[in-house]
Amino acid sequence: MRITAKDIVMEPSEVLRQKAAEVELPLSRKDRQILLDLITYVRNSRDEEYREKYNIKASVGIAAPQIGVSKKMLAVSIKDDEDSVEFALVNPKIVSNSTQKAYLENGESCLSVSPDVEGIVPRYAKVTVRAYNLLTDRVENIRLTGYPAIVMQHEIDHLYGLLYHDHINKKDPWAPIPGAIVI
Ligand code: NI
Repeated sequence: MRITAKDIVMEPSEVLRQKAAEVELPLSRKDRQILLDLITYVRNSRDEEYREKYNIKASVGIAAPQIGVSKKMLAVSIKDDEDSVEFALVNPKIVSNSTQKAYLENGESCLSVSPDVEGIVPRYAKVTVRAYNLLTDRVENIRLTGYPAIVMQHEIDHLYGLLYHDHINKKDPWAPIPGAIVI
């Protein structure tokens, strides 16, 4: 299935607030196809012509609940000057994290949230994620820092019914976080 704008579930849809179900491994044919559709969507969303044709937003990640599937699967694809990483993960779990925090200077955004909510979204600076990665067909311990670490935490949040703006300080959205790395 080609994921297009009409397939993206928007806040305040209930499915975005549910805890997603664990996925059985090895993947069923259906789950495998969903995960391939997710990674294909993120890859294609880098292409401006494609975005216009299917009326979609540029993205670096998407989680299954965002297409209405409450299962622990997500896709991340980042290709820029500094980072080039790609994951199609099943049952991802943060197994360790730094005490140091990090955040994106301009805040975060999400395919399922419109308009953007402004403010600092505190994240861990480093995380290790354990998951089955469909792209390598292995269970991996994935160590991430910098921008990819933030993207991964955003997508994993979707599997627990969390949205990025849940983390924003509502009284003072741009209040600095002492010791945090600004990305
Ligand atoms: Ni999101």
